[in-house]
Amino acid sequence: MPRSSEDAPSEGDPGWNPALDLYRRMMAEPGGGEHTVEAAIAGHSFAIPTASALGAIAQVSPSGVVELGAGTGYWARLLSDAGVDVLAFDVAPANTPESRWFDSTEPWYPVSVGDEASVAAHPDRTLLLVWPTRDETWPADALDLFHEAGGSTVVYVGEPAGGRTGDDRFHARLGNHDHCHACAYGVVTVPCICDIEPQWERQRSVDLPRWPGHDDDLYVYVRRGAPSTTRRRWRPGRGRGRGR
Ligand SMILES: C[S@@+](CC[C@H](N)C(=O)[O-])C[C@H]1O[C@@H](n2cnc3c(N)ncnc32)[C@H](O)[C@@H]1O
Repeated sequence: MPRSSEDAPSEGDPGWNPALDLYRRMMAEPGGGEHTVEAAIAGHSFAIPTASALGAIAQVSPSGVVELGAGTGYWARLLSDAGVDVLAFDVAPANTPESRWFDSTEPWYPVSVGDEASVAAHPDRTLLLVWPTRDETWPADALDLFHEAGGSTVVYVGEPAGGRTGDDRFHARLGNHDHCHACAYGVVTVPCICDIEPQWERQRSVDLPRWPGHDDDLYVYVRRGAPSTTRRRWRPGRGRGRGR
């Protein structure tokens, strides 16, 4: 995978962002040209950082970032280039046979082997989760461990509840669900989330360019107040908008 094109900033220059350059080339070429979304993701990330997105993370991360599920370390690298201190972990980092999506990709940034337990040691940092895996429990476990450790800020890059990132508990913790669909509508294929207390509150969002077919943006969350004042039960007709 080429790391830069002729007309893009070179590695180390301000604004260097080969994923964004590739995205722009794909958008400019009919049908994306010779590029595939799969190759674009495998070479970079499931999501495309922008200067605004990186700035939003930097603004809320005075003590740095701990990224979990960092994959190739692409977001970590650009954050580091922007002056943010980043610790990146993944249970199966890129360029290892265990990596599901990035087994042949050279990492952009040092990504240490680590799982959800790794974040508990860094509550002073912002927890960054970019495209946490759909319907796996580790993203919600990471949120809970980070919260228990006293963490105050989470940045999530991914799709809305019901999309291809996170599970129901993850989105319930973030307060992303408009309703408990099991109770409000009698949906039997999803779990009841009434008893999963939201622990995080969305503070802002940043629109992202999206690989074709994706529906992701960046969301900043801050820790909610005392549980007794924030606990709520979902009722039909009491949902909230996305709050963009
Ligand atoms: C959908 S990929 C997203 C990777 C990267 N954030 C990106 O946007 O390209 C999910 C990543 O989570 C990692 N992962 C899965 N289970 C994990 C766990 N328990 N702890 C840390 N990382 C995990 C996978 O190895 C994979 O790299």
